[in-house]
Amino acid sequence: MSLFIKKDLKKLIADAGDPNVESHSGGLKRHLNAFSLTLLGIGAVIGAGIFSLTGVAAANYAGPGIVYSFVIGGVLCAFAGLCYAEMAAMVPVSGSAYAYSYATLGEFVAWIIGWDLILEYAFGSVTVAASWSGYFVSLFTKTLGVPFSDTLMQFTKGPWEMVTLANGSQVHGLWNMPASFIALFVGIVLYRGIKESAFLNNLIVFIKLAIILSFIALGWGVINSMNWIANPDATGLAALVPAKALAERGGEQIMSFGWPGVLTGAGVVFFAYIGFDAISTTAQECKNPQKDLPIGILASLFICTAIYILMALVMTGVVPYKELGVPDPVAVGVDRIVSLRGWSDGAQKTLSFGVKFGALMGLTSVILVLMLGQTRIFYSMAKDRLLPWFDELHPKFHTPGKATMITAVFVAICAGCMPMSIVGELVSIGTLLAFVLVCAGVVILRFTHPEVERPFKTPIYWFVGPAGAAACFWVMSGLPNDTWIRLFVWLAIGFVIYFGYGKKHSKLRNQ
Ligand code: ALA
Repeated sequence: MSLFIKKDLKKLIADAGDPNVESHSGGLKRHLNAFSLTLLGIGAVIGAGIFSLTGVAAANYAGPGIVYSFVIGGVLCAFAGLCYAEMAAMVPVSGSAYAYSYATLGEFVAWIIGWDLILEYAFGSVTVAASWSGYFVSLFTKTLGVPFSDTLMQFTKGPWEMVTLANGSQVHGLWNMPASFIALFVGIVLYRGIKESAFLNNLIVFIKLAIILSFIALGWGVINSMNWIANPDATGLAALVPAKALAERGGEQIMSFGWPGVLTGAGVVFFAYIGFDAISTTAQECKNPQKDLPIGILASLFICTAIYILMALVMTGVVPYKELGVPDPVAVGVDRIVSLRGWSDGAQKTLSFGVKFGALMGLTSVILVLMLGQTRIFYSMAKDRLLPWFDELHPKFHTPGKATMITAVFVAICAGCMPMSIVGELVSIGTLLAFVLVCAGVVILRFTHPEVERPFKTPIYWFVGPAGAAACFWVMSGLPNDTWIRLFVWLAIGFVIYFGYGKKHSKLRNQ
């Protein structure tokens, strides 16, 4: 039997249950509406990207032109978002890109994409949990002045990272306890139920948005537009982009800035957009997935893009971009706003606390939604018998209990001890690969299954699909060779599991 055996699209849609009947969701509980889906999207998207990466991308690559990097990232994700919206409305099943590929490109490609999505969702949670830990330690030690002993400090970073002790010496960390803790905490919430998870997410998103919008409002009044002029020789909008220059990084001379720098910046801030697609994995928990999923995906993407552009304008407008190359650029921005407004130390402390607290909240919801996505992908793969165990539903909470526990423990262990720089790059390449396949899948299905009802249709699909796939592939091609090698190693591990287990047990093959 062919490796590329395909699921029948109509059967797949039928198996997902009648989206309009609460009890027909394969045992999962239909609770989510367009509003909670939009908040889940915002919850998944705004996190480590804006709170940490923006500054580095502005200082090293794009200058104030980082605003354009965000626009480019937003357009690229809009292409992918439109394709996800069409797929999610047409095939409202919890497997998301994995399930869509099962019907379009066949079992083997579906396995690859399901396995690849672990990079986006599980390893995405790992990366963000480590960033959560950084903000947690900074909030306690720097903002609240709570002293951490040397031993305690060694339990705030993994063995691949260095910790500075009280006497100034540096030693390796032992285990990143805060990162493991947040992963387990989120796992417990997810285990309890989709309603509880959505409630916590809504609460967090309100706090996070309040803090971010306050930052934008307070900063907007003290912007020094001269900070935006990075290239005085250029005119108009091009003045935001620093002229090309030779820069020294890691002991190496490299070309930086200019429009190529803006594009590199777009690749870096792409991480900030990851997550909007995760809500498509909740298709079987939506009251009206065919209408609400496209709204949730596109509304959250639109709101986040607008917020990112405003944040980038404020950050580069109040702080000269060269000073933004720090892990917490928003905190630097707040300090500058306070001093420009001539406010007291007390105000500085309060605002600094607010920003770090907002970042912690923001990162928590990202972990929540990414881990939610991971559990639903595992659940779908196990229902197809490509994986064992993960399809067991909790009798009372109606959540995939085993998948949730295993995901939480896996994320907690990886977040405690893995090297974060490697994990972070894998997340981006894994996500981009999924986007490429979804964009391609939309076009393929328009040809192979033109008759299937599409509650949401991607406009000018013959352009958006190929352009989305090409743009994502182009960003992938800019990632370092090491990342590509790691992707192939990860896929090779996946092949071993597929040929060792999945292929033999596959429900479709054994029918
Ligand atoms: N987009 C998410 C973040 O920036 C992954 O944290």
